[in-house]
Amino acid sequence: MLAIRSFAAPARRQCFQASARAWSVQISSRRGYAKDFSEKDKVAKFHGAKGSDGLYTVSLIEGDGIGPEISQSVKDIFSAAGAPIKWEPVDVTPMLIDGKTTIAKETIESINRNKVALKGPLATPIGKGHVSLNLTLRRTFNLFANVRPCRSIEGYKTPYDNVDTVLIRENTEGEYSGIEHVVVDGVVQSIKLITRDASERVLRYAFQYAEDIGRPKVRAVHKATIMKMSDGLFLGTAKDVAKDFPNVEFDAELLDNTCLKMTTDPAPYNDKVLVMPNLYGDILSDMCAGLIGGLGLTPSGNIGDECSIFEAVHGSAPDIAGKALANPTALLLSSIMMLRHMELNDHAAKIESAIFATLAEGKTLTGDLGGKAKTHEYAGAIIARL
Ligand code: IPM
Ligand code: MN
Repeated sequence: MLAIRSFAAPARRQCFQASARAWSVQISSRRGYAKDFSEKDKVAKFHGAKGSDGLYTVSLIEGDGIGPEISQSVKDIFSAAGAPIKWEPVDVTPMLIDGKTTIAKETIESINRNKVALKGPLATPIGKGHVSLNLTLRRTFNLFANVRPCRSIEGYKTPYDNVDTVLIRENTEGEYSGIEHVVVDGVVQSIKLITRDASERVLRYAFQYAEDIGRPKVRAVHKATIMKMSDGLFLGTAKDVAKDFPNVEFDAELLDNTCLKMTTDPAPYNDKVLVMPNLYGDILSDMCAGLIGGLGLTPSGNIGDECSIFEAVHGSAPDIAGKALANPTALLLSSIMMLRHMELNDHAAKIESAIFATLAEGKTLTGDLGGKAKTHEYAGAIIARL
């Protein structure tokens, strides 16, 4: 399937076949992909179109627990800001078909049609029951890159006030492949699947993203000292892809070392885009979120070639659902990422600065940030600043 992707041009394919034999060998006949890189060749570009009413339709998965309340804040703020977005609510109740977790056909059609969705939290059963809907969505739409930036927020004090990390996580395979079985009683095997195709597309996206946001340094995070073959393939592919982006500096770092260094001093990571296999990205992105105050403040975007889903990564917080206590910031910041993905940059900047100014002022904060404001009061304070 990947062979038909636009970035996998024949010349490149040969290079990668050659590198399959010895990925550490330098390949000199590589064509200069990055230089004659036209907009349409970009990996995972937004292909949506405005309707006749001048608005983009976005599928909206409000989610469980606090999902509807925080989604309401996004809707209110977007409409006050005049963002050209029309919401199409979709349902993601899990259905089991032939033993596989799936979602309604209408929802899949909506997201495929609109090319972009915003998603609130969905509850995930632990150890049993249906496959996480978050994973089902990533798999259904082949959302291969998960972009997770974390920036310190003025007004919310944490041990460091200078965090500005950008992490891109491979989102479809690795330890999340879901290939697990009992070998004999008491022995379970779980397979970490790494493919060159999936590694290449997320790496290519990471380099492209690094160029797009003007942060031309990519660092692959890995553990190829131990997982010599799987992480070795990821790292080798990274070295190959790096050659196509001569204007982006590339290096690599061992995951444990990254954790140690980042928690000791996050500043050296402020000029880099980190890219890594799935589970490492899951864990390290929570660690980065911890540095800036938690998952209530961090956005996330699941990017695919056809469509993309922007989501709040925090849980559904059923204990406070319906009480107007939830903090909508993570979903809001995800919706800002979504606007930028759609190239609605002015609207993104306007709403984003109103959010940050409201947080910095510190007068109308929700309980998790030490304030007393209700969800809608916080949203109202943002609207007042638009
Ligand atoms: C995340 C979450 C998900 C993951 C869960 C809910 C399946 O932790 O988006 O980081 O593990 O990827
Ligand atoms: Mn996670």
